[in-house]
Amino acid sequence: MKTKKLLPLVLCSAVLLSIGGCKSNSPLTQNTVLPVATSVEEQLYRPNFHFTPKKGWMNDPNGMFYANGYYHLFYQYYPDGNKWGPMHWGHAISKDLIKWEEQPIAIYPDNDKYIFSGSAVVDTHNTSGFGVGNKAPIVAIYTLHDMTKEKENKIDVEQQDIAYSNDNGFTWQKFEQGNPVVKNPGIRDFRDPKVTWDEAHKQWIMVLAAQDRSQFYKSKDLKNWEYASDFGKNIGAHGGVWECPDFFQIKVRGSNETKWVLIQSLNPGGANGGSGTQYFIGDFDGTTFTLDSNFAKRVAQEKAVWIDYGKDNYAGVTWNNIPNADGRRLFIGWMSNWEYAQQVPTNAWRSSTTIAREIQLIKKGDNFSLISNPVKEINEYISKTIKGKSLKGEGKLSMLKAGKIDLTQAIIEFNLKNLKQDTYTFTLSNAVGEFLTFGLNNSDHYLFLDRSKSGKTDFSDKFVGSFTKATLEGNQLEGAFKIILDKTSIEIFYNNGEKVITEIFFSNQPFTSISASSNEGIEISNLVINQLDTNKNQ
Ligand code: FRU
Repeated sequence: MKTKKLLPLVLCSAVLLSIGGCKSNSPLTQNTVLPVATSVEEQLYRPNFHFTPKKGWMNDPNGMFYANGYYHLFYQYYPDGNKWGPMHWGHAISKDLIKWEEQPIAIYPDNDKYIFSGSAVVDTHNTSGFGVGNKAPIVAIYTLHDMTKEKENKIDVEQQDIAYSNDNGFTWQKFEQGNPVVKNPGIRDFRDPKVTWDEAHKQWIMVLAAQDRSQFYKSKDLKNWEYASDFGKNIGAHGGVWECPDFFQIKVRGSNETKWVLIQSLNPGGANGGSGTQYFIGDFDGTTFTLDSNFAKRVAQEKAVWIDYGKDNYAGVTWNNIPNADGRRLFIGWMSNWEYAQQVPTNAWRSSTTIAREIQLIKKGDNFSLISNPVKEINEYISKTIKGKSLKGEGKLSMLKAGKIDLTQAIIEFNLKNLKQDTYTFTLSNAVGEFLTFGLNNSDHYLFLDRSKSGKTDFSDKFVGSFTKATLEGNQLEGAFKIILDKTSIEIFYNNGEKVITEIFFSNQPFTSISASSNEGIEISNLVINQLDTNKNQ
């Protein structure tokens, strides 16, 4: 029977793993009283410009939308512990996707009924009827997860509920009289609704994760939902339970052709172990999502196509209601991995988000792919630049000497020239002999990242494991790197975002220099190292 076969997978899903590695402990017993952050922890590990809650546990980004000059970010939040626990929706706002201001908690759980991941839409035409006066209501759609039912091993643990806001997303009322808006149909893992407006068919579309597939529902009013279709049972990566989908229409860059993109996280089974996020490109007729035929071939060949090949970009989804005049598709992920997120060496808070990214759809020949790049707003914070350097030589070349630029808030860009069948290694290092390497293996055509000597690693044996690898298809010869560095994270955007690697690390002192090496000599052009000052504009 289907459900029986899936049960072991289901029992080890992110949620249960996160509350104690498939043990039966209650999440509450796992959490200690939150220690106050020491200034050492603050100084060494509180990111300079990636969002972290001031205290407590955070996982997935939720319910992102733009309204009235603010980007809203909600997130899975447990304020009273530094491990996963009773889920709330935390809240932060930003005017530029870089500097975030934490807000009061947006949605609270009712005792054992936790508020899991979901989305929010600006209901411009008041289809829901929640609006007051002329003001568009904001409607949040999320999974209500019943812990009592979970402990009783019931199947119908998860259902989709809604809440609404009449003050642009700052305070929320649960739709008590109408919830659930989607009942559990007999599927144990049935969660993380992402709702989007489908202009072509004048309807709301909800995609949610249903164990080993994505499911689509449709609605005219956000309250009454009709099942539409399934996608993905035997397609793509299936090493773990599917979670946190996203679904949107996007134009091919530089053309008027549009496609639909399905983003689908899963845990475990990611590109380099643990949590990961794959995507699919195709068409949508208002009911069914059909994979583009060339993309289907790629999925079959590569097993899965990932939005990020690093270990630390999970459950990422995109903002709703970005104005047409802007037109970007903006994405943010949770910068951690369920394999070790609850053990990372911070105490007062745990986890941060990735840098916000612009996602674009590109087409080469008949092949579509997504590229991701840091949002351009980050450039507003550049406070110092070392520029225009070309380097050529053998052995180890210094790209930046200690002290010239603060590498805990920096953007590094460069191009590798005249690539040979060689391995190009870049090393970030500090004064206490710790280092992190990344680079390009141009014989076997892959990017790599190795954090095994980067500082604290022994809090989990999963944190190091094997080094991270991202296989390159085709045009690897461009050798263009853009790297965003914060105190505990590196985000590598290769060839204008065609391949991305995001990973966290916990060095005992900040990395201060970077060097390059290869066997047969190395040539670097257009080296630009920017320092960021995120206290600017305060
Ligand atoms: C993904 C996830 C979601 C769920 C949430 C619970 O990380 O497991 O599927 O809604 O976390 O916090």
